[in-house]
Amino acid sequence: MNMIEGEDRRNKDDEFLKSYINHLETKIKDVQNHIDLLKSDLLRLEDESQGLKREIEHLNEVPLLTGEIEDILDESKNRLIVKTSSGISYIVNTTERVKQEDLSPGLQIALNQRNFAAVEILPTKLDPFIKGMELLEKNIDVAYGDIGGLDDQIQEVRETVELPLLKPELFKRVGIEPPNGVLFYGAPGTGKTLLAKAVASETNATFIRIIAAELVQKFIGEGARYVREIFKLAKDKAPSIIFIDELDAIGATRMEDATSGDREVNRTLMQLLSELDGFDERKNVKFIGATNRADILDPALLRAGRFDRLIEFPLPNPVAREAIFKIHMRSINMETTIDLKKIVDLTEGGTGADIKAICIEAGMFAIRRNSEMVTYEDLLKAVEKVKNKSKEVPLTSDFFT
Ligand SMILES: Nc1ncnc2c1ncn2[C@@H]1O[C@H](COP(=O)(O)OP(=O)(O)OP(=O)(O)O)[C@@H](O)[C@H]1O
Ligand SMILES: [Mg+2]
Repeated sequence: MNMIEGEDRRNKDDEFLKSYINHLETKIKDVQNHIDLLKSDLLRLEDESQGLKREIEHLNEVPLLTGEIEDILDESKNRLIVKTSSGISYIVNTTERVKQEDLSPGLQIALNQRNFAAVEILPTKLDPFIKGMELLEKNIDVAYGDIGGLDDQIQEVRETVELPLLKPELFKRVGIEPPNGVLFYGAPGTGKTLLAKAVASETNATFIRIIAAELVQKFIGEGARYVREIFKLAKDKAPSIIFIDELDAIGATRMEDATSGDREVNRTLMQLLSELDGFDERKNVKFIGATNRADILDPALLRAGRFDRLIEFPLPNPVAREAIFKIHMRSINMETTIDLKKIVDLTEGGTGADIKAICIEAGMFAIRRNSEMVTYEDLLKAVEKVKNKSKEVPLTSDFFT
């Protein structure tokens, strides 16, 4: 081997080594990249695993109990009397997770199952039953002027419901307790619901209408909570009128099935009303009850503090019937020559609801004749029609019987 050959060979080796090193360097870079990728993957998976762990913990947690605060035992609000959903009351401690200043009787809270400590105040939402109630908030449009012939009744309601709501100071000055509520009684269709709505509308009060039978049904099942929630609603939106309609339906429906059933429901209603008695600060909340039959209602209902006054809704006399006709004819395109006195005579024994029906039927007869004007004949035919209808279905009154 000569010198030149040896040199050549070394050079070749060098080159080979260089390219090999190059090759290794890119390989290292690749691996590095791969490591980086794996590292970020690892981070991501660790995150995911943390999340899943948290979820498992969450799923493994013992469910919380719910309860209602009945009372707060000490000033610092550390101990509460809580009635759990099982109906048993416990004395429990509060935890740091509840803000003590937010605690108050009546609130729903969540309790730890092991030591029953209060861990959370549950949001109070209105009961679906309460939401389903007819709640006409300050948007009823019935004026006293839309009521015919009930002048004395209107006057009395204004004194017993409107005045205490609008001017409680008058009662304070004289030193008497304003009435809590009134009971309307009278035949169906004589304007009881109408007048209740008118008071709410004229006083700009919130009008909460509850059907008595529904209320009692709920009350039997669910205890005083509903009454309390209705009350809370009424107070939140005061001045308000709580209108308990169709009080008679309670007695009437129950009397058919059981002998003592009627009395039992009455007792339930009493219990409910005594709940109502227990609420203070109710100066801005008034009650109106309505019934077809005051005779079946327990006298305790009428005791002072509940419905302090009875207001009778009689069948309208001729003067009243004329006034009611005029009210319902206001918007009707009526022939000017009609003999309203005659129509009034023909409707002896009819109610306000019957008169309204007559006006609507007369309008229907005009439409059928393809006319824009209601005539005296239309009215006469309508009287006959409504008269016959009320004989078939005693819907409103004992009209003409
Ligand atoms: N005095 C009245 N003046 C004007 N309209 C009346 C009068 N009485 C009844 N009406 C009409 O009849 C309709 C039904 O009356 P309302 O619902 O007030 O009767 P009610 O006494 O509540 O009957 P019920 O006992 O069946 O509930 C009213 O919406 C109104 O249009
Ligand atoms: Mg009614």
